[in-house]
Amino acid sequence: MNFFLTEEQNMVRQAIRELAEKEIAPRSAEFNRKHEFPWPNFKLLAENGYLNMHLPEPYGGGMDWVSYAIVIEELARACAVTAVIYEVHCSLHSEAIFHFGSEEQKQKYLPRLTRGEILGAYALTEPGAGSDAAAIRTTAIRDGDSYILNGEKTFITNGGQAGLYVVFARTNPDPSVGHRGISAFLVEADTPGFSVGKPMEKMGLHASHTTTLHFEDCRIPASQLLGKEGEGFKIAMAILDRGRIGIAAQAVGITQAALEDSIKFAKERHTFGKPIAEHQAIAWKIADMATDLEAARLLLYRAAFLMQQGVRATKEISMAKLFASEMAMKHTVEAVQIHGGYGYMQEYRVERLMREAKITQLYEGTSEIQRLVISRALLRD
Ligand code: CAA
Repeated sequence: MNFFLTEEQNMVRQAIRELAEKEIAPRSAEFNRKHEFPWPNFKLLAENGYLNMHLPEPYGGGMDWVSYAIVIEELARACAVTAVIYEVHCSLHSEAIFHFGSEEQKQKYLPRLTRGEILGAYALTEPGAGSDAAAIRTTAIRDGDSYILNGEKTFITNGGQAGLYVVFARTNPDPSVGHRGISAFLVEADTPGFSVGKPMEKMGLHASHTTTLHFEDCRIPASQLLGKEGEGFKIAMAILDRGRIGIAAQAVGITQAALEDSIKFAKERHTFGKPIAEHQAIAWKIADMATDLEAARLLLYRAAFLMQQGVRATKEISMAKLFASEMAMKHTVEAVQIHGGYGYMQEYRVERLMREAKITQLYEGTSEIQRLVISRALLRD
């Protein structure tokens, strides 16, 4: 048992923190204000070797999962938008190809994804199927050497900006086969019959583009099937395990930013003749925030450590995602409270952090779905 990060993990944190503080944090508010997709940040991460850093060489950087979690955490501390764009590209998208793709698919796409020449996305959710992911209705019907896709996806992160999509669809539309009728595909953005809706207006993460996807007789080569027919749902779930570590890391990074802003403000702001930090009402909020943040971080690093060992850690990952996101929401609200009226103003970052924290309780499985996963694992055992 060892609670110390390795020298390498500490170096990773120092390097990404420097880069994020210098290049990413200062322009985050502006990208969000303009609803502009932060391509320079993505390119910067590519140039500095962060894309797919946790995949083994030659496809990635050969780094460990705790280091990867630290990178997402530090990105979120600077810019939650950049963190989710990065996480979806690396985990939900590239990992699906790395773990389930054919050798040909890996060679065709992974080097370009790792160099940042194309951005990846993951398309599972549909207007009628969010938490109940096995209820998706998009179809992919085999026709000779092709599949023909029809249907609609929604809430797709990186939608419209991605060059390649991992898409889940029913190869067997018979409802009685349930999740076993679902398969996974790789769809290139310029495929005829594939189109993307306008970026949706969201509560937060304004610079991250979230769209619908439309498939109208969209014909793709049969070689774009990812894994085997009927394995799609298990691929979706196995990949979400990995993605949820990323969202836990994002939530930890957001809470860290809220804590730092709260401490700074509490020391500067005076009421009744002293800094508000010296009023117990405020000091205890900061103590609780820091304690919950450390607990969330420990759950996150344990989940990442287990992933690194190659053991299935679905329950522990869901615990990390659940706790980290609930704490991010709770404590960003408290951070706004500590800032008083200033906290409600866009000039102060905590206003944005509070709106960003909310999504961590929703995407990649709501808090209720994490509790379902955890309780099922406990009751089954
Ligand atoms: N790894 C591997 N296999 C898994 C698995 C996992 N983590 N979880 C389930 N499976 C397998 C099961 O073993 C089972 O296999 P068998 O039939 O052979 O036994 C099969 O998958 C079906 O499992 P369940 O019976 O548990 O499936 P279910 O229909 O009850 O649903 C669920 C389970 C956990 C509720 C699932 O639907 C779920 O995770 N829902 C949430 C969806 C979600 O997170 N969406 C996020 C979209 S992406 C996103 O949000 C990205 C973004 O914007 C940033």
